[in-house]
Amino acid sequence: MSAQTEVDSSREPADAAPGPHVPGPHVIVFANEKGGTGKSTSAVHVAVALASQGYRVAGIDLDPRQRTFYRYLENRTETARRRNVELPMPAFDVFTGDTLGELEQMVAAMSDGVDYLIADTPGRDDRFARHMATQAHTLVTPMNDSFVDFDLVGQVDPDTFKVRKLSFYAELIWEARKSRAKADGVSIDWVLMRNRLQHIEARNMRRVGAALTELAKRVGFRVLPGLGERVVYRELFPSGLTLLDKGLLGELGVSHIAARQELREMVAGLQLPRPRDTHAAARRDDALAEAV
Ligand SMILES: Nc1ncnc2c1ncn2[C@@H]1O[C@H](COP(=O)(O)OP(=O)(O)OP(=O)(O)O)[C@@H](O)[C@H]1O
Ligand SMILES: [Mg+2]
Repeated sequence: MSAQTEVDSSREPADAAPGPHVPGPHVIVFANEKGGTGKSTSAVHVAVALASQGYRVAGIDLDPRQRTFYRYLENRTETARRRNVELPMPAFDVFTGDTLGELEQMVAAMSDGVDYLIADTPGRDDRFARHMATQAHTLVTPMNDSFVDFDLVGQVDPDTFKVRKLSFYAELIWEARKSRAKADGVSIDWVLMRNRLQHIEARNMRRVGAALTELAKRVGFRVLPGLGERVVYRELFPSGLTLLDKGLLGELGVSHIAARQELREMVAGLQLPRPRDTHAAARRDDALAEAV
């Protein structure tokens, strides 16, 4: 494991005390078997946004070939070093193992002491990605606003654009949610995130939106407006910065301010439980118990 994955346990002494009731972190998995839909971009932005809010965040990149999530955060580490600034930083690592056991070990190690664990998965059918999807509390499936991407969730009638049937992938997630609910009573919150929204394509956007609304009821996912189509999301990769890194981005134009707002709304739309419900609360309780 790389040095970045070591969670700084010195910040709160209570971390060292074995808490009897410490729940694991809230697990957010970004998954879509289709490639290039914005999994890594949105995963990085959510990870950094949560770290910026003061939460402890760890992220696992499950795509050892592309490593986009990992590389983004590596660039961020390098920027912090080069510019001699402190940046809100998730712990991060890439999974290169061969077995589910190894993955579980890594998940356990990285979950230690964090509030949120984020997993970015590759855009292909992958058994590790499937496994992570079953471990999610929040499963985010970014898709671009097109029926090509929609095809992965459901098929639509070419004339009426009504949904004809569920796709294999939607069935797969449906099954994963059912077995998870049966196993430990957790209902996975499946969020379909519309990434790269382009308002100039109003008609297509409405049609995809209508089909998604129809399917959302049948399959039980939520639809969330994600990031708009903006060059800035591509431009920031080499520096590892995000629009939340105020003061480091130079002069911000109006479109960047709008982008920052849409980023905040996207994170808020995930409706993640706050650590008072999760790990941090238990840490605080343990600290209190120790103090009295
Ligand atoms: N909102 C956006 N606006 C503009 N470009 C974007 C946006 N989201 C993603 N991109 C670009 O689209 C490409 C694919 O994005 P990304 O790598 O995040 O997708 P992915 O789903 O992780 O891909 P893969 O399936 O290959 O892992 C990248 O070049 C990225 O910079
Ligand atoms: Mg990716």
